[in-house]
Amino acid sequence: MSDIIRKLQQLNESDEYPLHMPGHKRSVGCGFFDDVYSIDITEIIGYDNLYEADGMLKDAMERAARVYGAEETFFLVNGSTVGILSAITGVAKRGERILVARNCHKAVFHAIELRDLQAVYLHPEYLPDWDIAGGIEPQEVEAKLLQYPDIKAIVITSPTYEGIVSDVEAIAKIAHAHNISLIVDEAHGAHLPFDTRFPKSALVGDADIVIQSMHKTLPSFTQTALIHMKKGYADTARIKEYIGYYQTSSPSYLFMAGMDECIATLEKEGSHLWDAFFEMRDDFLKKMAILQNIRILQDNDPCKLVISVKGTSMSGVELQKIFLEKHHIQLEMAAETYVLGIITMCDTKEGFDRLAEALLEIEGSIAKLAQDVSNRGQNSDFRDDLNSLSEWRTCEEDIVYSLAEVREKDTEEILIDEADRRICADYVNLYPPGIPLLLPGERITREHIALINRYLEKDMHVQGVSERRILVCR
Ligand SMILES: Cc1ncc(COP(=O)(O)O)c(C=O)c1O
Repeated sequence: MSDIIRKLQQLNESDEYPLHMPGHKRSVGCGFFDDVYSIDITEIIGYDNLYEADGMLKDAMERAARVYGAEETFFLVNGSTVGILSAITGVAKRGERILVARNCHKAVFHAIELRDLQAVYLHPEYLPDWDIAGGIEPQEVEAKLLQYPDIKAIVITSPTYEGIVSDVEAIAKIAHAHNISLIVDEAHGAHLPFDTRFPKSALVGDADIVIQSMHKTLPSFTQTALIHMKKGYADTARIKEYIGYYQTSSPSYLFMAGMDECIATLEKEGSHLWDAFFEMRDDFLKKMAILQNIRILQDNDPCKLVISVKGTSMSGVELQKIFLEKHHIQLEMAAETYVLGIITMCDTKEGFDRLAEALLEIEGSIAKLAQDVSNRGQNSDFRDDLNSLSEWRTCEEDIVYSLAEVREKDTEEILIDEADRRICADYVNLYPPGIPLLLPGERITREHIALINRYLEKDMHVQGVSERRILVCR
């Protein structure tokens, strides 16, 4: 038996509870998937062909489009990543300008690099009570489009990892008034169209391209995702062509059958499954109303559990550790002042009860700090103590090279403490969530260095910084 199988079996036999993706929570019992090898094929005669679908895969994708309320839907078997790469390379030609929310997933920046695009950034508002990014303001979108009339498309993430949605409808209206398309990375929102208790999907908001990871919040295999496309402002034929470039030429029928099965089940039985989910969640939140030190964000996507310890003696990373080591609950992510759990229709009452018990116990072991830390640094001459990466605003003067230009430069590795004013040559981000703090081609500032040092001190995983060294242009 391989080490990987052994480790997975141990996980399966353990009492560890998953508050993370995939949305099926390793619990969906479906007879067809009991022996995965017996139905694991790729394209053979009589079973249709994803890239030229005219049989059962065409029917399944048409069903997905109908259920989701999309004009056209295509199955992705390499995650939302491949949908993002295809959509961006499909809407803008080499060297063109694109308007991008700075809190996008790294796949967005990889597409910009591959296509050698010029990026103009939108910064979401910062929510200081929670240290997270809020929505993208439509007025900022309008202002940037007036400032740069040659922008060819807009890309935003909604909902965010933490479940914050933007006013997609307003942003789509602005995009269309300027004759350009809006791409929404809705990787975290594949469940949104299924119930009115969820925030509105970008599909309702008239976005042109909407990309969703089914595996994050729905009972669907890891890597399964959808791209919904609307003709008009975006060249959908070109986007589909690029999907064939980026995605495997051997799509897994396990994945595609799983997606179809999930969508069919939600269409037929979704309403009572969501009712059961909301009942468990409401019950859990009622029990949590007595918390004084720990706070749970409530006006975000109900599938996201943002648990904040901001202003207390505990950090998010410490909270994650206690959850795992003491309560055997594995979370999706830990940030500096909060942790994030994903809850779905496949969670159980037992799971919610364990979570409630853990939180009540942890609540008793932490203290509120006397001082409100949310205002620190406001009077200093530079922001050496940003509350979080979400607060960071990139100055346009600090973007020295485009993402593609940096690849042509000679580089060297230096100590992060010696990197002030140097030009970064790598992606630097916390992982998860993979939202860049620094992009290749950007000038490194003292604020970046202070924030990265703080993250490292707190044992957070900073990609792009290894043994305190960072890659810079020579
Ligand atoms: C906002 C966002 N977009 C895209 C992705 C990529 O999705 P996938 O893992 O399905 O490729 C992620 C992954 O976490 C994400 O958080």
